[in-house]
Amino acid sequence: MRKPFVAGNWKMNTDNHTSLELAKRIASGSREITSHNASIAVCPPFIYLQSVAKVLSASDIAVGAQDVYFESKGAFTGEISPLMLKDVGCTYVLCGHSERRHVIGEMDELINKKVTAAISGGLLPILCVGELLNERDAGQTEQVINRHIKKGLAGLSNEKVSAVTIAYEPVWAIGTGRTATPQQAQETHDFIRKLIAQMYNDTLANEIRILYGGSVKPDNAKDLMSRKDVDGLLVGGASLNADDFLAIIRAAV
Ligand code: 13P
Repeated sequence: MRKPFVAGNWKMNTDNHTSLELAKRIASGSREITSHNASIAVCPPFIYLQSVAKVLSASDIAVGAQDVYFESKGAFTGEISPLMLKDVGCTYVLCGHSERRHVIGEMDELINKKVTAAISGGLLPILCVGELLNERDAGQTEQVINRHIKKGLAGLSNEKVSAVTIAYEPVWAIGTGRTATPQQAQETHDFIRKLIAQMYNDTLANEIRILYGGSVKPDNAKDLMSRKDVDGLLVGGASLNADDFLAIIRAAV
């Protein structure tokens, strides 16, 4: 059985004070949910990772970064290594989020290096994949997902891939209030799981968690989670409100 996984991606939001307040409220509101029945994580901006990790150290809530560089140290001005993320208490890291692909311009090859380096550095990467609206309208969703997954996981052994979580985030559903229907999410998640079975094996495909992201709110979380291959949720905007994020967690567990 795959354990539900709910992660909040705070993106470039919060400040020193509000990041800590948000973390505290999420921790105190989710005390009844332990790591036995769900995985919960928050992904604050780099600069607040350490203080948020401290606040959450007594809870079952893990901390993730929103990005990582693929080298472990050296002359890479402005970048952050997997070891640095581990050092400040990170467990997870998002790789290839659509905003990094489409706003910053990251390509599959770079994302693959980040996923690989994250695993080598002891982090658990969440590889984000998803099609643009024009790609969906042109019937290219599976082609795009196929490319993101195959290139994103290129060169990884079975053992290494078992550290990975996939997040399906259709770009047209991110921050738009236009959620994929549970049926659309299920269809793509099913496609992803079959692809993993083809690339690796059935056991790995059955074990890998596939999250849905894109305008997840308290009122659509349960419906999305009711689908067989939706194992969790990657939440943007609604994760900045403790009550909403807690309601989403409860709907998912
Ligand atoms: P929203 O929930 O704000 O649509 O963002 C989704 C997302 O990008 C999470 O990574």
